[in-house]
This record gives sequence, C-alpha cells and structure tokens, in this order.
Amino acid sequence: MPNTIYPMTEKDLAEVVALESEVFTWPWSERSFVEEMERGFSHILVARDKAGALLGFIIFWVLYDEMHILNLAVSPAARRQGVGLALAAESLRFARRRGCRTADLEVRESNDAAIQLYEKLGFAAVGRRRGYYESPVEDAVLMRLEGFGRISKKTP
Ligand SMILES: CC(C)(COP(=O)(O)OP(=O)(O)OC[C@H]1O[C@@H](n2cnc3c(N)ncnc32)[C@H](O)[C@@H]1OP(=O)(O)O)[C@@H](O)C(=O)NCCC(=O)NCCS
Repeated sequence: MPNTIYPMTEKDLAEVVALESEVFTWPWSERSFVEEMERGFSHILVARDKAGALLGFIIFWVLYDEMHILNLAVSPAARRQGVGLALAAESLRFARRRGCRTADLEVRESNDAAIQLYEKLGFAAVGRRRGYYESPVEDAVLMRLEGFGRISKKTP
C-alpha cells in the first residue's frame, strides 16, 4: 500500500518517465508527459512509499461527466501489494468529486493483471478494438464503469 498519493508535479517527472520506460514496450516520451501536465482536463497521480520511493502512477482525463483512464503503471518491485488498486480507486474518487459518473479505458486483451484489477473496481468489458496496440499488435478490450456509487469507502 502506498504511503501517499498526490497529483504529479515537475519534480516527479524524471522518475515517472523512467518507470514508464521500464514498464511499457511502447513508452510515452517525456514530452508526452509534459503535454499531459499542461492539459487542463488531464490528471496524473503518483504513489510513493514512506521512504519516498516512487511506486506507480495513473494518468486519466476528466471530460465533463466522463472519465477516461489512459495509463496505469506500478514498479515491478511493488506489485501485488495493492498499489495499482489504490491508484485506480483514488483516481475514480478524484473524478467523482469533479462530477464524473462513468469511466472507460482500453487494455490489451492479454493483460489479465490489469483486467482483473479493473474488474475489482466494477469495470466490465463492453467491446473490443481490433489491432489497437502495436509492439506487439493486439486487440484492445474496452472496459466501462457505470455509476461510481459502487466504489466502496473501504477500497484502498
Ligand atoms: C497491472 C498493474 C498496474 C497492477 O498493479 P499492482 O499494484 O500489482 O496491482 P494490485 O496489487 O493493486 O492488484 C489488485 C488486483 O489486481 C489483480 N492483479 C494484479 N496483478 C495481477 C497479476 N499479476 N495476475 C493476476 N491478477 C493480478 C488481482 O485481482 C489483484 O488483487 P489480489 O492481489 O488481491 O489478487 C501492474 O501489474 C503493472 O504496472 N503492469 C504493467 C503495466 C500495465 O499493464 N498497466 C495497465 C495498462 S491498462
């Protein structure tokens, strides 16, 4: 479990970009992160442990009453400790406070870890985009959460 989750600042940038490159085969560039930080509707939350080590981050958009999750990554050394779930739950609470009531995302169809994590939060598969991903080419599963009332206060 993270000790703290907070909105990313420029001080976090280098570490977040390094984690992105470690985790994804087709990583976002530093420039992409800077562009996201400059968009009013885009939000990045980071999680750190007690010692200040970066555990993970989540990127999402809040567009009127719709939330869209773009990216979620947890450091390999910190996995299966609830960090991803805590980041996703916090992003949903953040979006809910801003009026969102539905959320959606795309995920690689082979990504069982992420699919199970999102299912725990109430997301369900609602469709598929053929050949959506590169390196390797793969379909995306579209997942959607209708109604944020289902997020328990007990969810990390
Ligand atoms: C997917 C990812 C973010 C999960 O982060 P995490 O901090 O390890 O996840 P959590 O510990 O919060 O796990 C929550 C639940 O998700 C599911 N889950 C997480 N990792 C899993 C795995 N390797 N296999 C199966 N289920 C998994 C489980 O249901 C888990 O609950 P449990 O531990 O009680 O069984 C992480 O594995 C990651 O960064 N992967 C690479 C990047 C990625 O695929 N991002 C998603 C893009 S949409």
